[in-house]
Amino acid sequence: MKLLVVGGGGREHAIIRKLKENLSVETIYALPGNGGIAADAICVPVGAKDIDGIVAFAKENAIDYAVVAPDDPLALGCVDALEAEGIPCFGPRKNAAVIEGSKVFAKDLMKKYGIPTAEYRVFDSAADALDYLKTAPVPTVIKADGLALGKGVTVAMTREEAVAAVREAMEDKKFGASGDRIVIEEYLEGPEVSVLSFTDGTTVVPMVSSMDHKRAGDGDTGPNTGGMGTVAPNPFYTEAVAAQCMEKIFLPTIRAMKAEGREFRGCLYFGLMITKDGPKVIEYNCRFGDPETQVVLPLLESDLLTVMQAVTAGKLAECEVKFRDAHACCVVLASAGYPGSYGKGYEIAIPADVLPHVFVAGAALKDGKLVTNGGRVLGVTAVADSLAVARDEAYALADRIAFENRYCRRDIGERALKAGSC
Ligand code: AMP
Ligand code: GLY
Repeated sequence: MKLLVVGGGGREHAIIRKLKENLSVETIYALPGNGGIAADAICVPVGAKDIDGIVAFAKENAIDYAVVAPDDPLALGCVDALEAEGIPCFGPRKNAAVIEGSKVFAKDLMKKYGIPTAEYRVFDSAADALDYLKTAPVPTVIKADGLALGKGVTVAMTREEAVAAVREAMEDKKFGASGDRIVIEEYLEGPEVSVLSFTDGTTVVPMVSSMDHKRAGDGDTGPNTGGMGTVAPNPFYTEAVAAQCMEKIFLPTIRAMKAEGREFRGCLYFGLMITKDGPKVIEYNCRFGDPETQVVLPLLESDLLTVMQAVTAGKLAECEVKFRDAHACCVVLASAGYPGSYGKGYEIAIPADVLPHVFVAGAALKDGKLVTNGGRVLGVTAVADSLAVARDEAYALADRIAFENRYCRRDIGERALKAGSC
């Protein structure tokens, strides 16, 4: 089979590695991929948002199956466009990808179907939002409606911060049109859990739970990033919490999307907060998380391509999806300065025995050598019987990788270890 994977980060590298385990896979093309993915797939310089380019490539190369991984092409209708040419795909259609593409849509869906989430108000004008903030409870959370490269959320601890966030989004247009509407929502407290799930629109199969570490600095300090590391499973996601999530969140969401004529097929990501009143939805993503995928897929025992094809065919109920009873830890090696500005083009030295543990996110090939080319450069994943061992191994492997300006958090997994289940 000839496969195509749209995207070019660490998540896509993890997906490609897993897909390669299926013996019927002859070739995988990554559009655009990256310098590290090039070791596992044929990288083609077609951007993930170039829907016409992706479709043309898929037709010319007789692609048998496509996986659309990032949010942008999903929101732009990449799956619809590929399906229109008869190419089966993994990923939601445009009308279902809106569950991530519009926070207002997601909040209204949850309200209509009684899915637990933070209380909220929607605003189309800065004046109304600022007026509301005069008396709104703080802390509060300001969210741009549309996609904003993961930067559209401000947790405002004071009224002043909340006012500044509204002004930035609605007056200064920091996120472009994505901030024309905003959601102001209730501040929730509790541990966060990421649950990725496979769903064919009717059946939903949660994958092993995970924990992201979003802040740049140790001890969850500093600015928000795309994610500095992950562990799986997440100790806060107990069996009792999982049962509540299935009954009150996962199944109701899948049914709600179907009832709205927006059947969701693909990977639906539930960003959850375990509050004292039970689990609540913080956000939905219409795709695999990054770097959650880098700990979740290494624990998947079943064949990924088989599961994905079952999702596409609407036959997930007939498919076995098994995870290893083990722990995974992924440490992200970033460029110092990220998520702000940072230098690029530094050569990366990875020992051969470390390579199988590395998922490459932001790197390019220059004169045949791998060089840094992004904020998050690599993810290093280790799997072991306990979280403590997985964490120690991930750091031991990561510390054998050298490049100038290399930065990583030293406390990935610390919080999960303290939670005491491992
Ligand atoms: P992201 O959506 O990935 O930019 O991350 C937003 C982060 O903001 C989440 O991971 C939470 O930590 C935090 N957050 C979002 N909504 C709320 C809320 N209602 N209450 C408290 N924290 C929130
Ligand atoms: N790690 C969070 C995300 O993928 O959005």
